[in-house]
Amino acid sequence: NDTRLSLLTPSGHLTLGNYLGALRPMAAAQDAATCFYGISDLHAMTTTHDPARLRALTGEFRTLVLAAGIDPGRATVFQQSRVPAHTELAYLLECTTYVGELNRMIQFKEKRRTAGGVISGTRTSLYTYPVLMAADILLYRPTHVPVGDDQRQHVELARDVAQRFNLAYGPVFTVPEITVPPVGARLMDLADPARKMSKSAEADAAGVVRLLDDPDLVRRKIARAVTDSDTGPAAVRFDRTAKPGVSNLLELVAACTGTTVEDAAEGVPTYGALKKVATDAVLAVLEPLQRRYAELAADPGQVEEVFEAGSARCREVTAPVLAAARAAIGLS
Ligand code: TYM
Repeated sequence: NDTRLSLLTPSGHLTLGNYLGALRPMAAAQDAATCFYGISDLHAMTTTHDPARLRALTGEFRTLVLAAGIDPGRATVFQQSRVPAHTELAYLLECTTYVGELNRMIQFKEKRRTAGGVISGTRTSLYTYPVLMAADILLYRPTHVPVGDDQRQHVELARDVAQRFNLAYGPVFTVPEITVPPVGARLMDLADPARKMSKSAEADAAGVVRLLDDPDLVRRKIARAVTDSDTGPAAVRFDRTAKPGVSNLLELVAACTGTTVEDAAEGVPTYGALKKVATDAVLAVLEPLQRRYAELAADPGQVEEVFEAGSARCREVTAPVLAAARAAIGLS
């Protein structure tokens, strides 16, 4: 009995990285598994945020999740903040997690702010972010958590916390596997292939392809992608160390077309040709998605209802798991 759970945080406009690393694999699993897919709006408040923008992005995410092919007839879609069990379980898990573990989290080390070498202006919720994420996961007893590569450490922590809780208080949680796609798990920024393509990059970031970017803008971003100065014969080959930009474009093509990076390089003589292939592959993915988005966006009330119905279902599904955790840990 395969159950999958994953969420996306509305902290910026979704990118091709989010799609290839998470949304598409999530959609692909719908027939083979019981799926719970959510929007982690609470996680979007762990760094400076604007309430109106959060509301707008959440609406856009709801529509994009459906436009990406996640079908509410087969998967349960929900909004994290509408399922209060997430925050309640997070507290019980804070009583199961050590500060040493949170101090080691790469994302916290990258996103915390410092002034004069001292942590300052950093929200408490950024620190406890991985605990809320563990609660998101463990409440649904999933067997698999499909995510991109950058979420590995967080899912590892959720596994550790589940094991520790089960050992200390009794077998309440399932310990899930991490599922990362074979290609596209870590798409890099087209303008700086040493950096992950991130939705929280500046709005006009040249190396970040957004799912709702106009096709002309997508063409320009790919045309300007960083390659390298080696243009000799066999210059188009996969080698992350020597050719990070070219390798990232090959990964992009492979992920969009469902092949391997080696096959993607086959018969592509020049960087110009590679960019043409990449542009076609990306637009073939984005155009149908954008068409469905436009159709769905015509009736936001309907989309909102779908997420409310899914959230109601999640409130039911999670209640017995939360009750079991409460009882096991000693609450009466
Ligand atoms: P988030 O919103 O940053 O990203 C959503 C999903 O997209 C993947 N991803 C990428 N994949 C490939 N290449 C990239 N450049 C790239 N950037 C992002 C992420 O790995 C993720 O799968 N904390 C999570 C959301 C979350 C969650 C959860 C996920 C909250 N609770 C429980 C799984 C289970 C996050 O902020 O992802």
